[in-house]
Amino acid sequence: MTDRTKGQIAEMTVLIAGASSGLGLHTARQLSKAGFTVIAGARSFREHEGEDGGMYRLGLDVRDSASVERFVRLAVERFGTPDALICAQGLLNLNAAEEYTDQELNDILDTNFIGSVRLIRQVMPLFREKKQGKIILFSSINGILGIPFQGGYTASKHAIEGYAECLRMEAEPFGVTVCLVTPGDHRSGQKQYRRHGASERPESPYHQRFLRAVSQVEHDESTGSDPDVLGKRIARALRKRRLPGRLLIAKSDQRLAVLLHKLLPIRLFSRIISGYYGQR
Ligand SMILES: NC(=O)c1ccc[n+]([C@@H]2O[C@H](COP(=O)([O-])OP(=O)(O)OC[C@H]3O[C@@H](n4cnc5c(N)ncnc54)[C@H](OP(=O)(O)O)[C@@H]3O)[C@@H](O)[C@H]2O)c1
Repeated sequence: MTDRTKGQIAEMTVLIAGASSGLGLHTARQLSKAGFTVIAGARSFREHEGEDGGMYRLGLDVRDSASVERFVRLAVERFGTPDALICAQGLLNLNAAEEYTDQELNDILDTNFIGSVRLIRQVMPLFREKKQGKIILFSSINGILGIPFQGGYTASKHAIEGYAECLRMEAEPFGVTVCLVTPGDHRSGQKQYRRHGASERPESPYHQRFLRAVSQVEHDESTGSDPDVLGKRIARALRKRRLPGRLLIAKSDQRLAVLLHKLLPIRLFSRIISGYYGQR
């Protein structure tokens, strides 16, 4: 922690990637309101860096190692070693598992998974030197279970889950704790980060089922949870000495789906989820 204080709470410096939109933006705002020093990164901040709306904005493209290195270096030069890193950047491309192109899969995995690893590579040496640090990785319910037409996104979130489990054990002896944030649907995501692949085209053998699944996804997001509540939960977790291993922040039906995924035979579970997304 830095030696600046606000009331009873020692102020912490937090780096957050993907802070221009959606849950990353809401989390950055809640952290700033709660007295954290927030260094917010996103590509769209490149043209107007600096103090804005209670946070310090820096351009960041997680797919570009030089941009990631610059983001962390400038943050450290101005605010000192950070106390925490949050990886909230994300990209969703809806398509049939069969119809994903290599490019689409590269875009999703590079943004959601490898982009987080690039950030971790830069901050871990700082955390190890300080013998403390907190890393929060945005997973999803899709990090635990699959949903039709989200194969690429689900693969990227499963990659984050597996990687985090290993990182947690390796980083703990250095005083670094790792938390997976697992949001259910929230009213936050922007359309520009939800791309549609070939299954959207009428000639696709998946076209009709794709449209039904997309319509359910759009409905669930538009009626989803309040993103500010998630931001507040993250602020509370960051104040603890050690992060929890997971924060599952979802409505009761989605929490039930996670539980049933553990308990039911996989073919029965898949039938239930397929029905929900209009596949049967
Ligand atoms: N919303 C939900 O219901 C929900 C549910 C489960 C999980 N999640 C997860 O929560 C996180 C936020 O999702 P969201 O839907 O709320 O937000 P979103 O509106 O989809 O915003 C995506 C954010 O990621 C940033 N981003 C994308 N590519 C980037 C890159 N190459 N480098 C740096 N930043 C990049 C975007 O900023 P720029 O374009 O400015 O770079 C933007 O700030 C994601 O990890 C998502 O998977 C969301």
